[in-house]
Amino acid sequence: MANATVLVVDDEALVRWSLRERLTREGFNVLEAGTATAALEQAGETVDLILLDYRLPDSDGLVVLRKVKELYPDTLVILMTAHSTVENAVEAMKLGAFHYINKPFNVDEVALLVEKALETSRLRREVKSLRTSVGREYGFDAIVGNSTSMQAVKSLLKRIAVSPASTVLLTGETGTGKDLAAKAVHYNSDRAARAFVNITCSALPEQLLESELFGHERGAFTDARQQKRGLFEVADGGTVFLDEIGEMTPALQAKLLRFLEEKTFKRVGGLQDIRVDVRVIAATHRDLEAGVREGRFREDLFYRLQVMPVHLPPLRERRGDVPLLASYFVDAYNREFRKRVRGITPEAMHFIEAYAWPGNIRELRNAVERAMLLIDREWIGPDDFTTLTRSSAAPAQFRLPPDGVNLEDVERQLLVQALDRASGNQTHAGQLLGINRDQVRYRIEKFGLTKP
Ligand SMILES: Nc1ncnc2c1ncn2[C@@H]1O[C@H](COP(=O)(O)OP(=O)(O)O)[C@@H](O)[C@H]1O
Ligand SMILES: [Mg+2]
Repeated sequence: MANATVLVVDDEALVRWSLRERLTREGFNVLEAGTATAALEQAGETVDLILLDYRLPDSDGLVVLRKVKELYPDTLVILMTAHSTVENAVEAMKLGAFHYINKPFNVDEVALLVEKALETSRLRREVKSLRTSVGREYGFDAIVGNSTSMQAVKSLLKRIAVSPASTVLLTGETGTGKDLAAKAVHYNSDRAARAFVNITCSALPEQLLESELFGHERGAFTDARQQKRGLFEVADGGTVFLDEIGEMTPALQAKLLRFLEEKTFKRVGGLQDIRVDVRVIAATHRDLEAGVREGRFREDLFYRLQVMPVHLPPLRERRGDVPLLASYFVDAYNREFRKRVRGITPEAMHFIEAYAWPGNIRELRNAVERAMLLIDREWIGPDDFTTLTRSSAAPAQFRLPPDGVNLEDVERQLLVQALDRASGNQTHAGQLLGINRDQVRYRIEKFGLTKP
């Protein structure tokens, strides 16, 4: 690796000379020091690697090693020793040396080792920066929404991310952003460099799910031909995201609870307790409390999860976020599809703001995607959202009048509410009710309503 800087520390000028000569030929910048004091003066951020003699006139190499690792943890150190004792080597590795070599050495081998060390550290840096850019993708900025409720959710998630909380429960209808929230919490915590693994509890039969989570020993069951580590082991130091926890069977719920409380578990068919440090983020679109009442969900597990609950509100309860989200998706799909759609017309925006979004943000994203795939104009209009009109879930948002009223009254009240929600726009009111503009106008006359 050219242009890396290597500091050679040895009291023998001949050793320094031979290493300098060889490493310079490889394209490295080479610095020299003959004493521990000089070494520490030369060490610094820009020194990538230090070849360090164990015996120095004014100190020993381990002292220098400790100091260097304290000041410049990223600098690699290779210890050189003429009196190789196992203890020295062990001590050196413990203090963070990359490697140690015995004197006398072959300069070619040293050059090779230096090259390898620098390559390793370059890769490590690359992975680190990759992880932070992944972190940015899953940063809290990726959670779009300025409504009061979303601001509160984001601020809570941020605090949870940096807290020691080991169990978190995300609730909310499908498509409200539970996956996104779980990733944001992981990638903004000090667990970010470790694994984030997720599993959907409803996707697997009980026995398989158990062995996925906890692993199994060889022969634990018919198909267990090999020992297998479970997700809790794989994610040690990181985060396990258990989606659809409400569908977990009672027997597994009990095992999960034991794990959450004791931080230890046994592999299926195993006897040994295994201890790991993972944060468990559970999610469900179900009402777990109802599950407890109906005997489907263990009460003790419910209370354990309930320590840190976060509720993602449905989109229809934060309609103010719809324009922001829709524009965000237009942007995203412009980039993905290489289109130049300018935006959504006020009329269309009005319509999607009034829509009930039973599938929440996922449905909104899909609707925008569909519109953008088909569009050949610059602005997305109400017609580009026709699929929503047909499957209009609008009636769900209307309050049913009390019993004992006649159908005409119900119709009239629905019409009034739809017109109100559409600010008097008859086309929109019609879209909300799943009827056309003429049918709206007809009813306005029939009920003697005046336009607001
Ligand atoms: N607040 C948000 N801002 C931007 N995109 C979001 C937001 N919430 C959800 N999404 C997107 O909507 C889709 C569904 O979200 P997801 O997290 O999978 O929901 P859930 O897990 O609750 O079903 C995903 O594509 C996600 O990126
Ligand atoms: Mg999900």
